[in-house]
Formats: sequence, C-alpha cells, structure tokens
Amino acid sequence: MHRIILSISLAVSSSTTAQINNCPIVPTPIRYESHSGTHFLNGKILLDTKDAPEKAVDYLRDRLSVLYEVELLQDDTSGLSISLENVDEAAGYYSITMLPEEQTIRYGSEEGLFYAFQSLTQMIREGNHGWEINHCLIEDEPKFGWRGLHLDVSRHFFSVAEVKRFIDLMAMYKFNVFHWHLTDDQGWRIEIRKYPKLTEIGSWRDSTVHGHYSDQPRKYDIGRYGGFYTREDIREIIAFAADRNVTVVPEIEMPGHSRAALAAYPELSCTGERQPVPGLWGIFDDIYCSRSSSIEFMKDVLSEVIELFPSEYIHIGGDEVPKKRWEACEDCKKVMEENHLENVHELQSYFITQIDEFLTSKGKKLIGWDEILEGGLSPNAAVMSWRGEKGGIAAARQKHTVVMSPTTYCYFDYYQSGNKSEPLAIGGLLPLEKVYQFNPIPEALTEEERKYILGGQANVWTEYIPDFEHVEYMVYPRALALIQSLWCKEKPHYEDFLSNYLKYQEDFLDHLNVHFSRSIHDPELMLERAENGIVARLKAADPNAHFDVRIHVNSGKSSYVNAFVMGTQDSIFLERSTDSIDKIITMKITSDALNDEHVHRFLLHSDLGRPIELITPPHPKYNHNGSLTLVDGNRGAIPWKGDEWLGFREQEVSMIVDMEQLEFVDDITIGFLDDSGSWIYLPESVSVKASKNGRCWKKVNVKPPTDHNHFEGSTYRAILGVKARYLKVTVHPMEEIPAGMPGEGRIPWTFMDEIQMLKRSE
Ligand code: ACM
Ligand code: ZN
Repeated sequence: MHRIILSISLAVSSSTTAQINNCPIVPTPIRYESHSGTHFLNGKILLDTKDAPEKAVDYLRDRLSVLYEVELLQDDTSGLSISLENVDEAAGYYSITMLPEEQTIRYGSEEGLFYAFQSLTQMIREGNHGWEINHCLIEDEPKFGWRGLHLDVSRHFFSVAEVKRFIDLMAMYKFNVFHWHLTDDQGWRIEIRKYPKLTEIGSWRDSTVHGHYSDQPRKYDIGRYGGFYTREDIREIIAFAADRNVTVVPEIEMPGHSRAALAAYPELSCTGERQPVPGLWGIFDDIYCSRSSSIEFMKDVLSEVIELFPSEYIHIGGDEVPKKRWEACEDCKKVMEENHLENVHELQSYFITQIDEFLTSKGKKLIGWDEILEGGLSPNAAVMSWRGEKGGIAAARQKHTVVMSPTTYCYFDYYQSGNKSEPLAIGGLLPLEKVYQFNPIPEALTEEERKYILGGQANVWTEYIPDFEHVEYMVYPRALALIQSLWCKEKPHYEDFLSNYLKYQEDFLDHLNVHFSRSIHDPELMLERAENGIVARLKAADPNAHFDVRIHVNSGKSSYVNAFVMGTQDSIFLERSTDSIDKIITMKITSDALNDEHVHRFLLHSDLGRPIELITPPHPKYNHNGSLTLVDGNRGAIPWKGDEWLGFREQEVSMIVDMEQLEFVDDITIGFLDDSGSWIYLPESVSVKASKNGRCWKKVNVKPPTDHNHFEGSTYRAILGVKARYLKVTVHPMEEIPAGMPGEGRIPWTFMDEIQMLKRSE
C-alpha cells in the first residue's frame, strides 16, 4: 500500500524593510518615507508650471486625465497644490515632498521631472473618498544610464499603435532605451528608399511554422504574413518615445539573420541563389557576402537609418553567423587574401570594422551582440552581452562599453513558470524571482572595468509571441523585476518587492489594462527526498494561500480519488512502489485565484527518491533540483522548461544510483530530451557498471530490448540482468554536433529527466 499523508506545520511570514514598506512605486526609490495622512484629489491637482518644461507637463496632464479623470490645473485656489523647483542635481534626480505643510517636486532636469511625474502617477490610490495620495517623502535617481527593453518585430509584426503602447508602458517604469529589432530572416520591417524591394519582397513571407519549430513533423500556417514601418511611422514612434524620455536604438542585423534582405536582393549573398523569406525559425547558412558591394549596400541602408534615428548607438546585430557560405565563396576568399585575414572569424571582424568605421565617420557608435568580439573587436564598438557574462567581461577589459543582457536573467521569451498552462514558448525558464536576481555588473570586473557597463536590458524575441497581448504577458510583471536591478542603487529583498508588488502594482497594471501574467500566483510544487519516496509541498507568492487538491491514484485495476485543502506549508508524501506495478498519481490543484486547473503527474516507480551521486555536475543553468530530478517520478515537459530536466554539457556524464539493497535488475530506462534546435541531442551510447558494495565495479553488458535499437523515441532502454546494489551509469554524448545540424562543431547538450530500474525478486 502506498500512503498519502497531509502534514500541517506553521506558516512563516516574510519580513519587510522600512524603505519599501508601503511604497507603491516601482522601481523602488532610493528613499521613501511614509508619513501619516492623505491628500484627497477631488478631481484635480494644482501644479505651479510657470518655468516647467511644457512637454513633461502636457504628458502628466494627459496621464492624470486618462487614468484618473483628474484635471491638472494651473490656477485654482483649492485642492492639492504642488510647486516645482529645478535644482542643481544630476539630470535624472527628483524628490517629492508630499506633506500637509509642503507639496514640492524638485528635479535635476526635464528627465528627472519626468521620473517624478511617473512616481506621482503611481502614488495615486483609490480610497474611500476617491483618488488620494498618501503623505510621504521621496528622493531618487537612477543607477544605470541604459535601462532597455528590446522588441523583435521581424518574427511577428506589431502595429505602430502597439509599438507606441510598448514604449508608453516601459516609460512608466522608467526604462529609457527601446531596442527595436527591425530586421531578421523572417521579415525586413523598415522602409529604405534606395532599396524598395527590401519591403516589397523582404517584409512578407508565405507561411509561418506552426507550434514549436522542433516539432516533428513540422506544420506550417500557410498565408501571407508581414508588414513594415514607413519613414513617417518611424519618425512618429521616435517622437512619441522622445516625449517619454526613451531613446530608440534601431537594429539592422548583419552579416547573419539576413534571409529577408537576401530574398529581395539575392546578389548580396555568396551564392546569389534566389530563396524566399523563410517561415521557419532558426539560424540560416545564407548570409551577406563580405564582398565590397554587400558592404556598400549595408552602408547605404545605414545612411538612411542614421537620417531617421537620432540615437547615439546603432545596433548592427552580428549574432549567430554561420561561416559555411563564406568558407566556400571565392569572393570571400579574395577579401581574406587581400586583407591578410587568417580565417572567417577575422573576416567577420573585418566586416564589422568596415561598418564601425562608417558609423564612426557619421558621428554614431556601433553596438552589436557579443559575437562581434570573435576575430577581434573593432575599435569603437560597444558590446551587448547575451551569451552569459563572458562577452561583457571581455569587452569591458578591452575598454569597450557594454550592455548586459544575459539569457539567464534577461530573455523574456523564456517560460515564466513551470506550469503546463503557460503558452508555448521557445524553452528555458525565467521566473520573476530569477529576473530579480540580475546584476548587470559581473563580479569578475574590477572597479575600473565596471565603469564600462552602461546598464542592461531584456530581450523580447517573438517567434512564439504572435500578438501584442502575448507580448504584454511575457514582459509584465518581469519588466518590473528587471527595472529594480537597473534603477535601484540598492534593491530591496525579493520577498519585500514581491509583497509590495502584490499590494500595489497588480492593481496598477490592471488599471493600465495591461495583459500581464499572473503566473506567480500559481502554486509551484517543491519536491524533496523522504524515506521510501518523496515529499511534495506547494509554494506560492502568498505564503498563506490555500488550494483545493484532488489526487487521483491509478494502479492498473483500481482507481480512487482523495480530495482536500492544502496550504503552502502542508506536504504530501508519495511512497515509491514496492512491486513492479506502475502506480500513477495525478494531482489536480485548483483555487479561486487560479484560472486553470494545474495538473501534475507522478509515476511512483520503485526508484522514486533513491540516492544518486552525480559524478558529473549538471550545468548550473539546468540544475533546478539536483539529482532528485532523475528520480522524482515526473517526466520533463516538451517543449522543455528549465526545471524538469537536468542539463549537462560534457563529453561524458556519470552518476551512481544507489538502490539501497541488493536487487536483481532486469532492465534500465532513462529519459532523454531530443531538441536539436536548442543544441540538445540524444547520446550516442550509455554504459553501465554494477557493484554490490560501491567499491568493486563490474562492467555490465547492456543489450537493447529489441534486435536493433536502445531508443524508443527519446527513451533509452537496456537489458542488464545483473545483481547489484549500485549502478554506475555513464552517458556518452556525441563528441561534437555533426555538420549541417544546429550548433554544428560544438559539444551537444545532454538533458535527462528520469531513471528507472525494473527489478525482479529471485
Ligand atoms: C540573440 O539572442 N541571438 C542575440
Ligand atoms: Zn561571399
């Protein structure tokens, strides 16, 4: 018999700090002092705007009217009356004195005044007598100068109104850089007068892959998809952003991610082959050739881009550039010879340097993804570090400016919870709490080197984000966690941020009609080892939340249901099976706060919770619950999320499973992930050694269960037929990813989700 026991213990309440306590504003100001008493607005605020910048005041007038139906007046005798004072402080500085005897906003520049107005807007709360503002003292200024959000409008296209909405919202949270990813393989989105086919042909595709691009067989939605922004659209968006203190940084991808441009002008590629704008995601071999005519084309395009965009930086992409075409191209070989370049990496550096010199001559600065470091960084380039911190560290050490945007903390196209109800995403897991841990300054840098870090940003790649509501869902509330790292000189503890977020900001986002994610309300199942099995506990944003839990147990012939209410401090014991009959438990969790029922399925196999010693450590990014992941009865989700799989990137992966007594093991089953698009591949082979005492090991002859194959789909099975207590399992991945496959030449990732032995009593 297996037991399911509900144990109850006391809830622990979270602590709060004085700074954030009762502060409705995100990002949290440097100083927030709450005072007793309240100003009632009665439909109006009186602002002394004599010397105030008109644009900022117009913005506030509009905001107060739209959000609160509060009028901003200049001369009236009654009601809340705020004085403005320009003070000698940093440009982004502001303070707000909101006391019975004084109501003043002080600001360093128009920028600081704009931030003060954002804070003021967030301070307005609904009380018993309508809108009101609590008495308080605020002092504030930003930490980093680059507080960015990126939006990919190539994979999916968003209208001018939607792009404005994106900028409008980010400005309300004091972001100040909009990185506009305007070109990619699947669509060219900016009008270029000299090359009309870029938009006539390059902005449209005939199909779009349906579902995840690693699905087999692939399916496509057939239909023309696309769009682009005219020069007028772009000017309108830049002006709208400028009114909100946001700089628009355009990105024109080169030399890779260029299939849309090559569809319009095939002569810019190495082969000259005419190919359509692809409807599939991924990395394509065809890129701009390095011959001078392609570089001249880039310069022409950039000339028109510079004409439109007043930003200091122009982003030229530079990421994910396969060198296959360059290696085979006579023109590229000639360029290498003439310029004494050793290899194609130096050719990439040469390409970027040409563009760098051009942009510099036009008074602009080049910024690109961290691949532009390969083969030597061109002299004036700035680096956007996305593949972890390494690129950012290397660039800062070479005295280049850096924007940090590592996937681990900043990729808002990743899942935000492990729940099955999340909409399809590219993969990876980036919950709110993880975003909050982001620090744009890598620990490895010296004080001097740190000065090169401009700030950070999150990237919103839209392969799996087909509409704007979905964009909002992916960005909010994670953008609020991110801005804490970019704005706050000292950010409060996550628990305090979270409780404040729940208290104030969800209402505010609702009030703004943002289609934000409520995933943090979803209970997360925390699993731990226990004697003879595992224990599952619910974790939720609110530590006092309760959920209705129904457990269906299905053990072949019989089935029964157990229903109860479970708090976040209660736990359920799942006992491992003592025979070879599969017992499946389905846990269904509901509550008023949840939109959907949450379903978790466990197989209570006979190795549930067994000790496993991981000789090869998992990669820190994919090590959510250590070795328990392999014996938690829970198969990994597909498309994968970071928490259900143990990920390795080694040439050999070894571990020792302890069955805790001598057993006769008939066979072994191991679950692997096969997702070539993410460079995750099935291993080449698995070898097993057995031991009765953990000291003397004997190689086991592993036999496939069928005549020819160890794998059934991505599940590995082998017949062992051995008596042992310990099994040493060694997984042998391919030495490197074969040519023609995504990630070719690299060490493949190995992802595992479960190990299970079938035993027989002698
Ligand atoms: C990137 O995510 N390829 C910059
Ligand atoms: Zn070429």
